[in-house]
Amino acid sequence: MPIASTGPARNPRNGTRVLGIETSCDETAAAVVTRSSDAKGEILANVVRAQWEEHRRYGGVVPELAARAHVECLDDIIAEAISRAGLSFAELDAVAVTAGPGLIGGLLVGAMTAKAIAAVHRLGLIAVNHLEAHALTVGLTEGLSPPYLLLLISGGHTQLLIVHEVGRYRRLGSTIDDALGEAFDKTAKLLGLGFPGGAAVEQAAATGRPGRFRLPRPMLGRAEPHFSFAGLKTAVRQQARARVPLAEQDIADLCAEFQAAVADSVVDRVERAMVLAAPVLKGARHLVVAGGVAANARLRQSLAATAARGGYRLHVPPPALCTDNAAMVAWAGAERLARGLTDDLQFEVRTRWPLDPSAPPALGAGKQGAKA
Ligand code: KG4
Ligand code: ZN
Repeated sequence: MPIASTGPARNPRNGTRVLGIETSCDETAAAVVTRSSDAKGEILANVVRAQWEEHRRYGGVVPELAARAHVECLDDIIAEAISRAGLSFAELDAVAVTAGPGLIGGLLVGAMTAKAIAAVHRLGLIAVNHLEAHALTVGLTEGLSPPYLLLLISGGHTQLLIVHEVGRYRRLGSTIDDALGEAFDKTAKLLGLGFPGGAAVEQAAATGRPGRFRLPRPMLGRAEPHFSFAGLKTAVRQQARARVPLAEQDIADLCAEFQAAVADSVVDRVERAMVLAAPVLKGARHLVVAGGVAANARLRQSLAATAARGGYRLHVPPPALCTDNAAMVAWAGAERLARGLTDDLQFEVRTRWPLDPSAPPALGAGKQGAKA
């Protein structure tokens, strides 16, 4: 039961204070952040309980188990966050909760809890889009405000978007099949590296050599900055099958080549998006990377070089704020609160909730993961 938590360096008395709750997938998380009138953010508490133990034996997230685990520990996680922040519920201004996209059971647990807290303590209530929370995290970590170009790479989503302002997004590209985190997780699974897979693949790749195995670089040169990772995963399976039993070095080399293929493909797609976004962004040439896969050091390195070549500045939150957490939810809530964008007790959770509702489905998109 890994629980990571941090407390405040100090407890400012000014600004709005928002409790954030995240239960959309397999992390139960609560956090308290403040937002000053000049839009500076500070994390007063950030508590995350990952459910890896519950799901590991199944090799993936089991929705019913996830929901039950949220029910069992959410109250304690919230109490810990409030206590670490050195506050009482009455001293908060609002509660922000992930209302989608995600797994329905977990979303309901979080939403019911947030509504109850808001009703009892007469606090503001904000239904947060989990993708928007990832998208705005750099405002909390670096004070960066839109517009910027966003690469969102997580377990359920892989998208390139222009973030015009809070609540206004234009999707430039997305995956036509698997999300990037899903490709990492499936690769890890078929190489016997366990769950969750992304960090395990990265760790195995550290002692591997790219180039010994040859994997495809999907979508290179396509005009629209879409992604595809299903074929890459299949290629890993074929290479692995051709070599069984796999020695540790084989696994390391396959992982290193997988990461190299991913980096080449993502870099190509981001370069395309940087060209498309430049006239819209004008002077604001910022490339933001968010979502769990942004924790990958190999990818961060490649993207740093890509951004520099394209005249963009790269911004990536620290790894603990790339993977799912409630500080980003609290911050997105604070940003919405500052603009008067609050919700009432009747809001409903949404398993699907695109940031750019006007974007057509990417050609070939056969499915959408439940994760965000
Ligand atoms: O954003 P996130 O925590 O949850 C979703 O909203 O999906 O992203 C989780 C994804 C998982 O697929 C996980 O394997 C991947 O992020 N991930 C990584 C790394 N750390 C987490 N992928 C590659 N390298 C990592 N170091
Ligand atoms: Zn996420």
